[in-house]
Amino acid sequence: MNILLIGSGGREHALAWSLADSPLTSNLVIAPGNPGMAPYGEMRPVAADDLDGLCALAVEISADLVVIGPEVPLVDGLADRLASLGIAAFGPSAAAAQLEGSKEFARAFCARHNVPQPAYFPVSDYATACQHIDQLGGFCVIKADGLAAGKGVVVADDAETAKDAAKSMLDGQFGESGKRLVIEQRISGPEASLFALLDGDSAILMATAQDHKRAYDNDEGPNTGGMGAISPAPRLDKALEDQVMQEVVGPVVRGMAAEGTPYRGVLYVGLMLTKDGPQVIEFNCRFGDPEAQVILPRLRTDLVSAMLATTNASLHHFDMRWDPRAAVTVVMANKGYPGSYEKGSVIRAIDAAETVPDCNVFHAGTALADNGDLIAVGGRVLAVTALGDDAKTARRNAYAGVTKIDWQGGFYRSDIAKT
Ligand code: GLY
Repeated sequence: MNILLIGSGGREHALAWSLADSPLTSNLVIAPGNPGMAPYGEMRPVAADDLDGLCALAVEISADLVVIGPEVPLVDGLADRLASLGIAAFGPSAAAAQLEGSKEFARAFCARHNVPQPAYFPVSDYATACQHIDQLGGFCVIKADGLAAGKGVVVADDAETAKDAAKSMLDGQFGESGKRLVIEQRISGPEASLFALLDGDSAILMATAQDHKRAYDNDEGPNTGGMGAISPAPRLDKALEDQVMQEVVGPVVRGMAAEGTPYRGVLYVGLMLTKDGPQVIEFNCRFGDPEAQVILPRLRTDLVSAMLATTNASLHHFDMRWDPRAAVTVVMANKGYPGSYEKGSVIRAIDAAETVPDCNVFHAGTALADNGDLIAVGGRVLAVTALGDDAKTARRNAYAGVTKIDWQGGFYRSDIAKT
């Protein structure tokens, strides 16, 4: 099969690695990709938000399947555009991707379908925002309604922080994405994520993971896209997985179908495990980053077959198998991330890290300099993943890989998956 993979981050490197391993893949084209993906396919310089360019590329290579990694092209309707060209896409339609594209849509959907979630208030003006913030005693979460590259959420301990965040968003910090807000009650408990495949009619569990969002050790410092992750999620046991499939994923697959917007693709359910049971923090309409980098190395079923079962609505008789071992990924980021950082520092010895058994180094923000050196150009630059018989061993192996990499411009957390 001719497969086109869209995206350029660590998540897409992990996807490229899995897709290239499939006996069904005869030709993998990646747009735009990154240097780490070069061994798996041909890279084409078409940006992930250039829908016209991506559709033209899919037609040019006679794509049998297009795998859409990031959320922006999904929310912008790439899967719909491909469907109108008769090309199968792994990823939901724009209407179904509203579960990530609009926080207000997601909250209202959960309310309509009795999915457990915190109390929330949609607002579009500052005075109403202040009323709800005061009503919640300032202990609340402020979310920009639309996509904001993972930056549109502020978790506030007091009314002043919450009101400042609401004002900045309403004043245009995230453009149109912040013109509407959702103000939520804060809930507490450990966080975990569950990934499921949905084919419009049925859903099957993929795997669980837990990421670490703060930049520095001991969960200090600013929020990031994720500095590392472990799979399976240590706190999400089989009983809780079943409960989430029943109380969250089931209502999503049935509710989206009943509302005329069937969901086909991977659903990322961000959860808080409260004392009253799991509650939905957020939905994402794609694999997580860095969660994909810990989940996919555990997958023992062919990924292309799973994606085809999703696009062909045949998940009800599809079975996924997983390596029972744990996986840990440690993100290596540019010094300064998630703030500003220098570009161009040289990275060496990735091969040495991959001599650690079951260790893979996934690239995110890398590029090749004119002289052929691998250099850091993004915020999150590498994700070093390793498997182990238990979480402790996986963690030890992942850090064994990290310490072999020679990169003066980077930093990483030293407490990923530490118990
Ligand atoms: N790791 C969080 C995300 O992918 O949204």
